[in-house]
This record gives sequence, structure tokens and C-alpha cells, in this order.
Amino acid sequence: MRVLSGIQPTGNLHLGNYLGAIRNWVRMQDEVAAKGGQSLYFLADLHSLSDHMTREARRDALTDMAAALVACGIDSTKSVLFNQARVPAHAELCWLLNGTARMGWLNRMTQWKDKAGKNRDGASVALFDYPVLQAADVLLYQTTHVPVGDDQKQHLELARDIAVKFNADTGREVFTLPEPTIPPAAARIMSLRDGSAKMSKSDPSDMSRVNLTDDADTIAQKIRKAKTDPEPLPGDVAGLEGRPEAKNLITIMAALDDRSADAVLAEYGGANFGPFKAALAERLVVALSPIRERYLGLRRSPEIDAILIDGATRAGALAAPTLAAAYDALGLVSGR
Ligand code: ADP
Ligand code: TRP
Repeated sequence: MRVLSGIQPTGNLHLGNYLGAIRNWVRMQDEVAAKGGQSLYFLADLHSLSDHMTREARRDALTDMAAALVACGIDSTKSVLFNQARVPAHAELCWLLNGTARMGWLNRMTQWKDKAGKNRDGASVALFDYPVLQAADVLLYQTTHVPVGDDQKQHLELARDIAVKFNADTGREVFTLPEPTIPPAAARIMSLRDGSAKMSKSDPSDMSRVNLTDDADTIAQKIRKAKTDPEPLPGDVAGLEGRPEAKNLITIMAALDDRSADAVLAEYGGANFGPFKAALAERLVVALSPIRERYLGLRRSPEIDAILIDGATRAGALAAPTLAAAYDALGLVSGR
């Protein structure tokens, strides 16, 4: 069992990233280790070339995000934690796979269509090629499981298509076919201001999200001001139909407590939002303040660089045999 996932280092982590992705990574590391498997988690800094960022912003985003992952519980003694640019095999394999990937496949990617919009000629080649680099990330390690959100499923299907075609074209079984593992419990967290939009770092309003760096007062204020409706809370989930903001707050509470939305409503159903919001804010502070404390201690510390350097060395060693097999299958002699 080999588990791998990545996250683009662009700004601070928020509650959606934590409950939807990172917390599952943290939980998986123990399960995978117990089964004798290997977990790899990385910061997709090469992928960030598909967005414009200054040099300084890119450097800070990497180290801050790495510190945040460690603060959330990614443990470098249990998982390999690294940044993509430090392991040149990612860029190399991406180039090799560019010979296999078809323009038509990439043209059908929803992320490409959404992000390029009408201005395809003005979009970067990096944005178009983003899924091929992602395929390289996954295939380089003979990855079996890729824990990701639903939005990444199409990219993983593409990685499988590339692996199948590469193996068939070269007549060699160079790559393992990866499976997306979309955790059933992965919560989809919505904006605190609009229950129909996902909580995102790109939302211009900071009041729309809880950042992992928010202090207790900020969290309490954001939850107090979170959009709701005038009705009291229903007694079961069926009663949340058509009430996206109420549903979101209940989802957050349920995810934090690892219980069902019905169990939360059994406790708070019939009450107004006031007492529920106070309890939710308190629960968030309990969950997030240790992460925040650890993060503030680790941010910009040399310990983070040391973890990333060591992780890159280990990742590079794990990647080497597959990269060599890919070069060889194509009849290329690399300088490695
Ligand atoms: P953002 O939308 O803030 O830009 P990313 O697209 O960088 O976040 O996502 C990073 C990871 O966090 C992905 O695995 C994604 O599925 C997860 N994620 C992001 N936002 C949410 C959310 N609101 N709810 C659940 N998971 C989320
Ligand atoms: N595209 C992913 C995201 O936006 C990040 C990512 C890059 C990734 N490479 C990966 C995820 C490989 C899983 C496996 O969330």
C-alpha cells in the first residue's frame, strides 16, 4: 500500500482544507503504517506556476504551508513530507508523460475549462499541462491510493489513462494504476456567508472562512456573524433541506465531533442558533487552538526546512527506480 497526496501551497489553510483533506491524511498515516505501507504527502509547488505569484509569496507560501501541515499532525517520522520542486523526478517524469498524454484528454479537464475560461490562448501551458504533472506525481511512486476531494477525481482518472497508454505503448508494466480514495466522511465545508459556495481561500471576504491561524476571539466572532435563517434548528437532517447555512454549521459540528448530523440535531434540535453557535465556536477553538499554537511555533523555523530536505531525499530514492524504468522503456539514456 502506497498512499500519496499533494496540496498546492497558496496561502493559509482553512477549516475546509482541514476537515475535507488534511485531517484524513493525518488519520491515514497511522492506518497505513499499521499495514506496513508508506505515506507520502507533498507541497505541489511546481503546480503553483499555473497561478501568478511573486517570488517572495511563493517562498513564504511553501514554508508556511509545510509548517501548517506539521502543526495539523503530519508526522515526518510516519510519512514522507516534501516539496515537489526539491525532487526533480517530478518534472522529469512530467516531460516523459507529455509524450503519452493527448491534447483531447487535457482539453476535457473541467479545471482547465474553468480556470482558462474564454481566454484559452492567454492561459499558460503550465495550466494546460497541470494534470500531466499531477499524473507524474502519482505514478512516480507506484502509488496505490490517492486521498483527494471529489473535485480531483477527473485528474486521477487521467493519471490512470496515461499509465494504461504508457504501459501499452512501451509494452512494459512501468506504472501501477492508482485508485482515488475519496473518504466518505470527508466533509465539504461551505462559506460562512453563503451556504451554496464552498469555503475557499480565494473568497475575498475573510468572514467567509475560519483560518487555522484565527485566534479564539476571531473564531467566535466569525461564527456569531455566520449567516443563518430565522427558524430554530430542526430535529433531524431532513429538516435541513433548503437551509444550506444551517446545514453547513451542523456539518461542521458533526465533523469536529466525529458524529452524524442527526446526532448533533438530537442534541440541538428545537433550539435557536444562539446557543448552538456558542457551542460550535467553543468546539472549534478546542480543535484549532492547539494547531494554531504549534503552527506559530513552527512557522519560519529551521526545523521545517530540515523536514522538507530529509523528505525530498527519501522521496527521491523512492522515485528513482520508476523514473529509470520510464526512461528505459522509451529508449532514452538519462544523465542520472
Ligand atoms: P481552496 O478552495 O481554498 O483554494 P484547494 O483547492 O487548494 O483549496 O484545496 C486543497 C484541498 O482542500 C483539496 O484536497 C480540497 O479538496 C480540500 N478543500 C478545499 N476547500 C474545501 C472545502 N470547503 N471543504 C472540503 N474540502 C475542501
Ligand atoms: N491538484 C491537487 C489539488 O488541487 C493537488 C495535487 C497535485 C495532488 N498533485 C497531486 C493531489 C497528486 C493528489 C495527488 O488539490
